[in-house]
Amino acid sequence: MTPPLDEALRALLCTMPKAELHIHIEGSLEPELIFALAQRNGVALPYASVEALRAAYAFTDLQSFLDIYYAGASVLLEEADFHDMAWAYFQRAAVDHVVHAEMFFDPQTHTERGVPFATVIQGLARACARARVELGISSELILCFLRHLSEEAAFATLEQALPWRQHFIGVGLDSGERGNPPEKFARVFARCRELGLHLVAHAGEEGPPAYIWNALDVLHVQRIDHGVRCLEDPALVRRLVADAVPLTVCPLSNVKLCVFKTMAGHNLPALLAAGLCVTVNSDDPAYFGGYVNQNFVETFASLPQLTRQHAYTLARNSFKASFAPPEDKAHWTAALDSAFAAAA
Ligand code: ADE
Ligand code: ZN
Repeated sequence: MTPPLDEALRALLCTMPKAELHIHIEGSLEPELIFALAQRNGVALPYASVEALRAAYAFTDLQSFLDIYYAGASVLLEEADFHDMAWAYFQRAAVDHVVHAEMFFDPQTHTERGVPFATVIQGLARACARARVELGISSELILCFLRHLSEEAAFATLEQALPWRQHFIGVGLDSGERGNPPEKFARVFARCRELGLHLVAHAGEEGPPAYIWNALDVLHVQRIDHGVRCLEDPALVRRLVADAVPLTVCPLSNVKLCVFKTMAGHNLPALLAAGLCVTVNSDDPAYFGGYVNQNFVETFASLPQLTRQHAYTLARNSFKASFAPPEDKAHWTAALDSAFAAAA
């Protein structure tokens, strides 16, 4: 049971404008949509019902989640499927006052099943364009390489992606972290850097601080996804603070994947106290118990040392850490200031 949260603080957390910078679009696939797409595409699922699928969402670590996550994504075959998945996310994000989203997608999860890269990106890009027009949400796509696959497979994916360069702003690195260190992808990231792509990587979720160091020093990433294990290494914290490297933290994910036993034991307050540029995000909201506002509400309810000032800092950081143009960041920050002034 989550402890109660002050009503005024809850309202502020839910209505403040925010950017979401760590959302795997395949992780927004709700069980209902998985079943609807399975039926539409004639895909057999190893679960009898929505309830049976949801009941399987009891994870012990990252890999136990990834096995189910990749199985869920198997219903995605057509351009319309990718559009419908992303559009469902955007509608949900609008409710949470997300004004900007930088969205991960895992092309190899689909191309390995014979779905063309074009199908994936065209469906996602169409939903992004629609979100701008119909919901006023700006968004960008970030292509993630699956780190359990080879460097060669990552290079092949980059080749497939380059004709669609105008539809994505950067690359990331996700999937099973342990045993797949950043340096495995040094040459791919060097090539992406030459191409002018933004660079991010998951590191320090389950993996050790050394993976964060190497994401910074070998891959030259601009943000660390998760990064919560940085606190084990004071020199690393000093480096992240000195270079203002943002961490895209996902509290509900961390608890569901047993990185922390409880939300009350999450190190978000310590990360903030260390002066790190922390943001709050949903990671895989359909699997981890909630979208971005649920992450804010449960985190603040379980960690009463977090205040209104921290709420402001986290939302402000989400704009600062985004890859959006400075004028957009200034505009959203002004809206954030107004929301806080109105709630004073
Ligand atoms: N892919 C989807 N969610 C992920 C996570 N939390 N860590 C690594 N890879 C992922
Ligand atoms: Zn993630």
